[in-house]
Amino acid sequence: MYSEKVMDHFQNPRNVGEIENASGVGTVGNAKCGDIMRIYLDIDDNGVIQDCKFKTFGCGAAVATSSMATELVKGKTVQEALLVTNKAVMEALDGLPPVKVHCSLLAEEGIHAALWDYAEKNGIVIEGLKKPKNDISEGEEEEEY
Ligand code: FES
Repeated sequence: MYSEKVMDHFQNPRNVGEIENASGVGTVGNAKCGDIMRIYLDIDDNGVIQDCKFKTFGCGAAVATSSMATELVKGKTVQEALLVTNKAVMEALDGLPPVKVHCSLLAEEGIHAALWDYAEKNGIVIEGLKKPKNDISEGEEEEEY
């Protein structure tokens, strides 16, 4: 049912954790299942993503897609990171079963929410970036999960 790559990223997820004083943090909820994802980005002065970490209350497919997505955005500019769509992530993982496609949206939206947070904090506009509709970052500062 799952590709070898999905199983690998599920069993050995890369980039789990958080980044202290991150440049951008985004938290999103999956409207379909209620699962939650938080993404942390460390972005340097040139707008290049130096590090990316995630934490999730999500299923195995959410873990695997976030692991791959965080790997893919590292080293990219914020603009290039927008091309790391859930489709691109699924392709990199050799596919997901159709019922699990919605899980891959968590990583994409989490990255977008973190980029949104970064842009807001720095008063910049990232062309083509929209605030994800499942962004639940508002007032999350003190919240732990
Ligand atoms: Fe919720 Fe996969 S079932 S993210």
